[in-house]
Amino acid sequence: MSLQKGKPEITKRFVSKGIFPYQYAFTLLIPLRNIFLSPKQLINRLELTDRMNVLEVGPGPGYYSPAIAKILTNGKLVLADIQKEMLDLSKKRLEKKGITNVEYYLCDGNSFQFEDETFDRIFLVSVLGEVENKENYLSEFYRILKYDGILSISELPGDPDRLTIEEVKTLTGKHGFEFYKLYGSKRNYTINFKKK
Ligand SMILES: C[S@@+](CC[C@H](N)C(=O)[O-])C[C@H]1O[C@@H](n2cnc3c(N)ncnc32)[C@H](O)[C@@H]1O
Repeated sequence: MSLQKGKPEITKRFVSKGIFPYQYAFTLLIPLRNIFLSPKQLINRLELTDRMNVLEVGPGPGYYSPAIAKILTNGKLVLADIQKEMLDLSKKRLEKKGITNVEYYLCDGNSFQFEDETFDRIFLVSVLGEVENKENYLSEFYRILKYDGILSISELPGDPDRLTIEEVKTLTGKHGFEFYKLYGSKRNYTINFKKK
């Protein structure tokens, strides 16, 4: 009874702004998504090499994570999400594929318990728009990214929280990042930044 009562509320959250409900995580695993951004495209855009330490913020159920982790044969991938249920789903997906170079990190929504300059790459796909404390996150990304590292932000169509390229440039610029490369179009893009 209580589940039935809760359903319209979850559906509302699915189509509105705010944290994507884990109950709809299955919609993020539909391969049709490759029309907008395929794992292969993302790997190229991230300029990955096998020894890198990579942080994926907001992996959800891990649509992109296995392909990324497979490149990092001498490095590792850290998956950081604010919903434990999403981390559980991504863990299940990666373990099923026998991928072990992955760590899981439950976010508190403000700061990250990682040393300065830990990561070669930090990336977010359809996430930044729904992060409540964007300013805190960007200042943390600056702190934990290595000096020659890349912060990569992708936004895809159909996301009610999607940020424009200009919004992303303004936000990142305030925290010491400079534009590096842009892929895609206004509606559907990956934008990469480096530390100034
Ligand atoms: C729309 S889903 C995208 C999932 C995945 N990146 C993809 O493209 O399939 C957004 C994800 O960001 C996570 N998220 C939202 N706010 C967050 C925050 N402040 N910190 C970490 N993860 C967050 C949500 O829990 C959800 O898993």
